[in-house]
Amino acid sequence: MILLNPGPVNVSERVRQALLKPDICHRESEFNDLVEGIQDKLVRAFAPAGGYLPILITGSGTAAVEAAVTSCLPPGRRILVIKNGVYSQRIATIAASHKMQNMDIAGEWDQRFDTETVPVALRQNKAIEVVAVVHHETATGLINPVKEIGAIAKKAGRVLLVDGVSSLAGEELDFVSANVGLIVGSSGKCIQGFPGVGFVMVRRDIMEQMVTYEQRSVYFHLPTYYKHLEEGSVPFTPAVQLYYAFNEALSELLEEGVPNRIARYRKAARLIRNRMRAIRVKFFLREPLWSNTLTAFNLPDGVHYDHLHDLLKERGYIIYAGQAQLAEKLFRVANMGALTEANLTGFLDAFEEALPEAVKLGEARSGEMGRLADERVEKAEREAAEAKAAEEAAKAEEEARKAEEAARKAEAEAPKGGAEDAKTEDKPEVKSGA
Ligand SMILES: Cc1ncc(COP(=O)(O)O)c(C=O)c1O
Repeated sequence: MILLNPGPVNVSERVRQALLKPDICHRESEFNDLVEGIQDKLVRAFAPAGGYLPILITGSGTAAVEAAVTSCLPPGRRILVIKNGVYSQRIATIAASHKMQNMDIAGEWDQRFDTETVPVALRQNKAIEVVAVVHHETATGLINPVKEIGAIAKKAGRVLLVDGVSSLAGEELDFVSANVGLIVGSSGKCIQGFPGVGFVMVRRDIMEQMVTYEQRSVYFHLPTYYKHLEEGSVPFTPAVQLYYAFNEALSELLEEGVPNRIARYRKAARLIRNRMRAIRVKFFLREPLWSNTLTAFNLPDGVHYDHLHDLLKERGYIIYAGQAQLAEKLFRVANMGALTEANLTGFLDAFEEALPEAVKLGEARSGEMGRLADERVEKAEREAAEAKAAEEAAKAEEEARKAEEAARKAEAEAPKGGAEDAKTEDKPEVKSGA
């Protein structure tokens, strides 16, 4: 199956085979070596100037986001979330569910975020310590202006937290010039490993600060991992085999080169977009906002996502639905993972073949829905008419009963005086003057 969803992605055979390496205990030096190897590769790939410490956490991207969010804030301070999509909404939800003081600046999901609002918020809220932003909002394929927001945070002396779960190895980001304090990533997207290993790269001075903050969680507390790392251990049982595969995926990334990986993705996205444009499928975002790794398209009129999805799945391709309020409106095509150009053209051919079928299925569903709606109206009208007839019959019956009762009453009361008169009339005539 060719996966055009934004993770899990197709992995290379080399990464898959890494799962089969020998069983090891995570408390032995072999595992420690594995972790050090992964850390070293993460730094070489994403922070070659150094200064960042990668902390690995067994779990999905959300686990690593939760670890970063809950570990980064000192007591009495606030986190400001740039909220313009599903994943920034999730950051706010994480902060709120841990009873952290949080506030947000909402942006339109399909517009460039207006960075001018950030310095205003920072001036008005001195308690803000951390500014959180999602680099690539995977719900729409929108790239946020992280570098600009980082510069604003730096000028105001605040920490920048970046969700880079779907952007690391897919988009350029210089941590130092963007003033990144913490950045979250995951194994199963642009790094092309299996899902299951999250990581947070923390600037070392910030890590030293974080060890002094209150602990909000057991599993998601980054300083706990840091303390164990310093001792060459891990606090909890990690998904050892996934670490092997992640390590292999990072080796592949370094061999390919991060800039080349990004260029490959950009080229793949262009291939998809050009063909879709040629067949007049509409884009959800304007071009300057596009990421290198995912495109959100408007569902063509009359086409239902489930039809399109199922027709493509039958042909060996998985696309992805819209999320939240966009669930009925969009379909998404990601181009992360070990995909070849032939995979992509194969998908585009399959899409062109499937689309007219999806239109037909959509028409049939609209017809069926129209028929069901007519039936519902007919039934409602029939029931209303029956109810009205029953009401009128009951009313007529009641009136008849009342009339009968009135007649009975009248009959019972009326004829008494008439009988006495009759008696008088029957009396023999008395003649006077006898
Ligand atoms: C930007 C971003 N952040 C966080 C997540 C959550 O990752 P996961 O689904 O692995 O928990 C995703 C998942 O797609 C994402 O795209």
